[in-house]
Amino acid sequence: MATGQRVVVACALPALGVGLLRERFVVETGGWRPDLSWLRQHVPGAAAIVADPSVRVDAELVDRAGGSLKVVANFAVGYDNLDLDTIRERGIRAANTPDVLTGATAELAIALMLAAARRIAEADALVRDGGWPAEKSLLGRELAGATVGLVGFGRIARRVAELLRGFEVRLLFASRSEPRERHDAERRELGDLLASSDFVSVHVPLTAETRHLIDATRLAQMRRGAILVNTSRGAVVDTEALMHALRSGHLGAAGLDVYEDEPHVPPELRRLSNTVLLPHLGSATNATRDAMARLCVENVIAVLAGREPPSPLV
Ligand code: GLV
Repeated sequence: MATGQRVVVACALPALGVGLLRERFVVETGGWRPDLSWLRQHVPGAAAIVADPSVRVDAELVDRAGGSLKVVANFAVGYDNLDLDTIRERGIRAANTPDVLTGATAELAIALMLAAARRIAEADALVRDGGWPAEKSLLGRELAGATVGLVGFGRIARRVAELLRGFEVRLLFASRSEPRERHDAERRELGDLLASSDFVSVHVPLTAETRHLIDATRLAQMRRGAILVNTSRGAVVDTEALMHALRSGHLGAAGLDVYEDEPHVPPELRRLSNTVLLPHLGSATNATRDAMARLCVENVIAVLAGREPPSPLV
């Protein structure tokens, strides 16, 4: 039954989620990537805002929404786009979509490891172009038996560790907190992990402490020819320093799903043949996006019904 409360959907929430919201609320959707002026125009008087990492929910937007705003529901596990201090101060709730996207994102990290190591994008482009490799070209390296370093050891990294078991890799992890399970991975200081790994996969959230965590100094600590994979947030890696390391040959390759200024991907990164570049697809399977939509909507419904949301942030 519709309540008359208004929900502003500021991101590409799947139809399943929009439908569930429409059964209860007045819903306004801004399409695939609504611009800021659409958002500013529609938030005043809203009870809920549904956002994703491309939508910055800051003090200005929250204040523009006004006293009616009860919940900001992120259609994502990461929440660096939300000004949580402001949201908390104003007595508003915020929620995200953890767990349901762990498997899809972990699989994509492994897909990037394999794609970068076996030069799959480069080879695919060659064949599409009518070509065929010359002798000894397009030779790659194997994941099996390699040392894989996981930077951060939260849900997604631990799932990567589980999935990699069949590859018989040696697993290292660097983490500030003690993980719930170790999955036969050895804990290392970050510098030691970088110096010991053939593949490094980044799985930390973006915070003030992790911005450019992987900078020129850290990249220099990596093994010559190593492969860097990032499915977390672009700004955890210093892009300029990464491009330099790829150009110089210090790094063998990079597999990236995320960028510092999405959807902008630096032209130089696009020109480098030792990169595999994806458009932020970590959670992008039908099943996962629907599960995220359900959880996101449950968060909205719970708060607007005066209940505790299933996955609260504040
Ligand atoms: C995607 O980037 C997410 O945080 O869910």
